[in-house]
Amino acid sequence: MNSTTSKSAKTFVRLTKNQRIQHVILFVSTGLLILTGFMLKGERWVIESFGGAGDTIFWWRGIIHRAAAVAVIAVCFYHMIYIVVTKEGRSWIKDMMFRWKDAVDLFQNLAYMTGFRKERPKMDRFTYMEKVEYFSIWFGMFIVITTGLMMWTEYLWPKFYLDISEALHLGEATLAALAIIVGHIFTVHYNPHVYPMNKAFIDGKISESLMKEEHALWYEREIAKQKEQASHQQNDEESQDEQPR
Ligand code: HEM
Repeated sequence: MNSTTSKSAKTFVRLTKNQRIQHVILFVSTGLLILTGFMLKGERWVIESFGGAGDTIFWWRGIIHRAAAVAVIAVCFYHMIYIVVTKEGRSWIKDMMFRWKDAVDLFQNLAYMTGFRKERPKMDRFTYMEKVEYFSIWFGMFIVITTGLMMWTEYLWPKFYLDISEALHLGEATLAALAIIVGHIFTVHYNPHVYPMNKAFIDGKISESLMKEEHALWYEREIAKQKEQASHQQNDEESQDEQPR
């Protein structure tokens, strides 16, 4: 990612506008899918307490679940194309790939958290936890989309396959909801380094202090890149001054 610093605020680019739009579509549609999906698991008396409106609410529930599913499928497809055809996307997926260093970071971080190591390991653009989270979304989406599409087109499938897809859909939906509520909410909200909220998903920026704390290796690389650019710029200016007029 082309990280740039703004001299006054000392921030770096964490998420570009394109990435923020993908993220907002993903989280709004996933939120709606969780809400409208788990409504089916509610107690019967809750639905009955709405009287006649219960049927209308549940009719809309089905429509919203399907509309949000279409949005989530679209953004997943877009993301697949994005990581292949755009320079920004290729850099994203390259930096997201697991490396041996992630295993080292994990052990060093555990050692740090348990008091066996004085310093946190210097982590790169994406920490091992962020990579796990990212690829779990790939896995989870693959499961809910294939099983969801099967349930949507239930007339095409034998009951045996439909029973399996329903079980997988519910299982993965529960896992995804828990992962988002427990994992993601902790990392972007309750993590003491960012509390009350990591605003990168809104403004795309990461502060210099957070860069140093959580992505020290990436920070050092970005600073070295900026110094190199500055020295190239200076050399260009000097050679222009030396030209005979
Ligand atoms: C994070 C994503 C999703 C979550 C959390 C979720 C959640 C749920 C839940 C909890 C159920 C009830 C299952 C049961 O009664 O056993 C359900 C049903 C269903 N889901 Fe999803 N779902 C998601 C994505 C999708 C997608 C992508 C599709 C379509 C491609 C889809 C289509 C369906 C269908 C057709 C049903 C059957 C009930 C109905 O007619 O609405 N879901 N979903």
